[in-house]
Amino acid sequence: MDTKKLSEKYLMKTYNRFDLAFEKGEDVYLFDESGAKYLDFASGIAVNSLGYSNPEFENAVCQQIKTLCHTSNLYHIKQQARLARMLVELSGLDKAFFCNSGAEANEAALKLARKFGGSKKNGASKIIAMKNSFHGRTMGALSLTGQDKYQKAFVPLVEGIDYAEFNNLESVEKLIDENTCGIFLECIQGEGGVIQASQEFYDGVRKICDTHNILMIIDEVQTGIARCGKMFCFEHFNSKPDIICLAKALGNGIPIGAMVANEKAAQNFEPGDHASTFGGNFIAATAAICVLNQIEKNGLIKNAQQTGQYLKSKLLELPVKQVRGLGLMLGAQINASAAEVVKKCHEKNLLLVGAGANTVRFLPPLTVTKEHVDSAVEIFGAVLAELGVS
Ligand SMILES: Cc1ncc(COP(=O)(O)O)c(C=O)c1O
Repeated sequence: MDTKKLSEKYLMKTYNRFDLAFEKGEDVYLFDESGAKYLDFASGIAVNSLGYSNPEFENAVCQQIKTLCHTSNLYHIKQQARLARMLVELSGLDKAFFCNSGAEANEAALKLARKFGGSKKNGASKIIAMKNSFHGRTMGALSLTGQDKYQKAFVPLVEGIDYAEFNNLESVEKLIDENTCGIFLECIQGEGGVIQASQEFYDGVRKICDTHNILMIIDEVQTGIARCGKMFCFEHFNSKPDIICLAKALGNGIPIGAMVANEKAAQNFEPGDHASTFGGNFIAATAAICVLNQIEKNGLIKNAQQTGQYLKSKLLELPVKQVRGLGLMLGAQINASAAEVVKKCHEKNLLLVGAGANTVRFLPPLTVTKEHVDSAVEIFGAVLAELGVS
């Protein structure tokens, strides 16, 4: 039975999959089961940032698998503690907690904000999240996700969450009261269409949080780990949040999530408050340490800035309405269905991702070169021309 038939027979229908199945990766290319080569500007939705077949990454993970995979968090794990130190030093925050995914990192932050409200702010429990946001599919993360289409089939949701307009400070201010303990936002709403927070909005939220003793929580699951031309996207702004949530590129394909917080927030968790069986185990932590080292060693932050700028300038030569985003997280808004354009690019061996109805996302591995960008933009431009997009 081929892969498509096998999937359709045995897997729950939670995904509308493309008619593609990959077998192997190399550099910034994926090869399907017939051996056809695809230029990958999707990176497993911003995960495979080192590209494919990075020898240091492969060696580090394989070596760790042969040595020890898992012991549980009943015991100390050297790699986990070393990874925590790296994330703390890189972010300027104070303590890390490890889990397995983006949704779980947001769940952890939601619980930490509630614990802070409970013990430091007279039982405050209200959370403010943004409309058009995306934070994941578990019940807490889904409740933070301000989009009816994801939530409506699963009510009742976690209570005590209100939604403000993204980039509208007044709308945030209106929701603030003494019961508010946390505000969640993305620096760039990825799934929501690659919409960037304005400097004024980000700084304004920070000020509101300082004034009212509220934790500012930035979901960096998609924007973090060098994707946007800084290690963390919040570095594009003037101040630090209290908590960041990470996942996706942190493990380059090995599942790992993390919540990193300052002392003010982190001190509220006590033994028994939160846990994860697999979180930050030997394999996941080893993978993430290697990712962070490779980003530094190979200058991937600079590459995300420079090649991202180049990609942006090339896209702007095409009939696009707007190009949004930072670094190598870019969205081109077009006068056409994003789903149709993505499908047609697939037919020409270029992988892209949609974001909303009319925005196509460009999320290549951070190792991408100008030559790869030229090839991708040529295919994308040819598809727009074929569809008569102006
Ligand atoms: C900003 C953001 N937060 C959270 C998530 C959920 O991450 P995961 O699918 O690893 O649970 C995603 C996934 O796309 C995301 O983009």
